[in-house]
Amino acid sequence: MEILGIDIGGSGIKGAPVNIETGELTSDRYRIPTPEPSVPEAVADVVAKITRHFEWTGPIGCTFPAVIKNGVALTAANVDNTWIGTNGQKLLREKTGCPVLLLNDADAAGFAEMKFGASQDRTGVVILLTLGTGIGSAIFVNGVLVPNTEFGHLDIRGKDAENRASDRIRKAEDLSWKEWAKRVNEYLQRMEALFWPDLFIIGGGVSKKHEKFFRYFDIKTEIVPAKTLNEAGIIGAALAAKMLL
Ligand code: BGC
Repeated sequence: MEILGIDIGGSGIKGAPVNIETGELTSDRYRIPTPEPSVPEAVADVVAKITRHFEWTGPIGCTFPAVIKNGVALTAANVDNTWIGTNGQKLLREKTGCPVLLLNDADAAGFAEMKFGASQDRTGVVILLTLGTGIGSAIFVNGVLVPNTEFGHLDIRGKDAENRASDRIRKAEDLSWKEWAKRVNEYLQRMEALFWPDLFIIGGGVSKKHEKFFRYFDIKTEIVPAKTLNEAGIIGAALAAKMLL
């Protein structure tokens, strides 16, 4: 069974049909840069274009980088503020003509990892953190997600954690791997002190380069890179949309 997974991010919107039994993409990913400003209508038009590209008429799972409750965006940290209060799920249904499920991007990545990735069949407390434009979080307790956790906004030294330790900040401040890893380490230690997890999974594009920064971490918890890497959002969104069938 195939479902179209679409991942809306701060810089790009990408999609591909996913075989939800195997977690494999059944066609090459199609990516379009996120429109500027990233207002709901413009973003929804891009999602519709991706849907047409695949000549898709079936269910769609779509991620969004914000708190999503019943299809409505309640925050907008790295996208246009006009998203707050917008029923994105309804808008995307109208624009694509398909059944759509909208969910938080890190929650989607977490689903992908729990089913096909680093935490398959893991019990206990598993925390996935995506280090990208922002920091996304997904927490699973014995395989069950606590949605919309938003731990990228934890306060560290008077700032949102994602404004100190995201991959965007590493690039913007031209930090060395070691300098950046120290900041991520402080964040991980804080998460440890609050949640005492059994496993951390690090996702986001930068997780491909984990050899460059994991070695600087000084934490108690087992830590692994995400297996589904850049595709986690697409795969997890498709998995979550299974409930539309
Ligand atoms: C948002 C989260 C999102 C994360 C990763 C944060 O700024 O508040 O909802 O999961 O970025 O995109």
